Amino acid sequence: MTIRAATFADERQIARICLLTGADGGDATGQFTDDAVLADVFAVPYLRGPGCVALVWDVEGQARGYVLAAADTSAFQAWFSNEWWPSRRHREAHTPGDAWLLPSAADPKRCLNAAVADYPAHLHIDLLPDQQGKGAGRRLIDAMCEALRGSGVPGVHLVASAANRGALAFYPRVGFNEIARDATTVTFARDLV
Ligand SMILES: CC(C)(COP(=O)(O)OP(=O)(O)OC[C@H]1O[C@@H](n2cnc3c(N)ncnc32)[C@H](O)[C@@H]1OP(=O)(O)O)[C@@H](O)C(=O)NCCC(=O)NCCS
Repeated sequence: MTIRAATFADERQIARICLLTGADGGDATGQFTDDAVLADVFAVPYLRGPGCVALVWDVEGQARGYVLAAADTSAFQAWFSNEWWPSRRHREAHTPGDAWLLPSAADPKRCLNAAVADYPAHLHIDLLPDQQGKGAGRRLIDAMCEALRGSGVPGVHLVASAANRGALAFYPRVGFNEIARDATTVTFARDLV
């Protein structure tokens, strides 16, 4: 097992991991008209967007987990809204999952929450079930925080589903503090300076 930078060759596997962990930590297959849409919002753009850092948890040459970050959330959001999302073809909502995700993805302020001012980077982390609970998540978070710190980023945040009990237990154990909460989400942040 090793942590390495993601390459475009990892894209399909990263998208698969995103789908298999995308329902509050569980399998989101079938929740959307197109199984690719979740990764087109939360994973694949981090291989291409400005200021993005993508690391994978590599097991015998295959990505089995990842941590993906945008160092400058405002720049990432501008690129996502102006270039990335218009290039995708997910438009019509047919399922409850689509009805939640598609308007959110089209919102030009989706990532621009109150945390961005003090914690300009944001991240996503997911591991396939057989890699969970063995310390890989902690190692990925530490590697990502080190990379962001090395680029001069003062802080990183993330937004987790309030229904994802595993995630809510994990982040405080790896250096994140809860900074905001609403009915459906919890925002965590970590200083990097
Ligand atoms: C959440 C996730 C990234 C955590 O990674 P992990 O490798 O399983 O976590 P680690 O083994 O590194 O655990 C680190 C610490 O968090 C704790 N922790 C992790 N998952 C936990 C859980 N489900 N319940 C309670 N504590 C948990 C561990 O006990 C450990 O604490 P300690 O070191 O103080 O003893 C991983 O389980 C995962 O990918 N889950 C499914 C997808 C997901 O929910 N992603 C987050 C979306 S916001």
